[in-house]
Amino acid sequence: MKGKKRNLAAGGLVLAAVLAAVAAEEPRWRHARELMVQHQIARPLDGREPVRDPRVLQAMRSVPRHEFVPANQRDFAYDDRPLPIGLGQTISQPYIVAMMTELLQVKPEHRVLEIGTGSGYQAAVLSPLAREVFTIEIFEQLARSARDRLARLNYTNVTVRHGDGYWGWPEAAPFDAIVVTAAANHIPPPLLAQLKPGGRMVIPVGNVFQVQNLLLVEKGKDNRDLKIHSIMPVLFVPLLGEHPPAAEK
Ligand SMILES: C[S@@+](CC[C@H](N)C(=O)[O-])C[C@H]1O[C@@H](n2cnc3c(N)ncnc32)[C@H](O)[C@@H]1O
Repeated sequence: MKGKKRNLAAGGLVLAAVLAAVAAEEPRWRHARELMVQHQIARPLDGREPVRDPRVLQAMRSVPRHEFVPANQRDFAYDDRPLPIGLGQTISQPYIVAMMTELLQVKPEHRVLEIGTGSGYQAAVLSPLAREVFTIEIFEQLARSARDRLARLNYTNVTVRHGDGYWGWPEAAPFDAIVVTAAANHIPPPLLAQLKPGGRMVIPVGNVFQVQNLLLVEKGKDNRDLKIHSIMPVLFVPLLGEHPPAAEK
């Protein structure tokens, strides 16, 4: 009986310690996120184009990025750079996530497709901005852990699928916006076909392991005209999988 009491007391102490750690930790992360938004995204110190959309800034402020990185990377979660998430993949730099999100001009009624779930962070940033988010990841292990993480953190409007995102998600199409977070050597025609008239796609295109070009693709309301804008040089991991070469023009 005495032993049981001692265990309860010890359990109480552990619980108290955990609660104290959480209480002490949260303001620290919140502060780090606020600094990230102010100095890297809304008013970058190095002259980068600021991200101004208040809804996007609010989403960046709200998503606990430290929950999306491996334990040994947590202290760097709010640094101005991508971080490794295993299997040779990365969680993108916060500024790039914010910029790509702003370019999509997501509205509350929109359904959005992401290619390259990775940690699930970009999907979590899109979650409060959209009606539904669909995201595809080619590595089953990453898809599974992102699905679990997003559910644990209550991002209930995000659906994760394991598969090759080059082919999109035909059963859930069409989408108001599509974001591709791995570099392709051409714009995948299935993704263009699954974009609504008037929809927007953001995708890095170029040679892998070299600087690529972040493109904004706007599909005309008549479902035909495409406007392609070159936004900025970026460095993404490659879009994996066996795909047909780009069609001849
Ligand atoms: C830069 S990481 C994306 C980071 C992610 N958006 C996040 O917020 O953590 C690129 C991701 O694309 C995935 N990927 C690469 N090729 C893919 C493909 N064909 N289909 C789906 N996912 C792919 C990689 O496995 C990797 O997780």
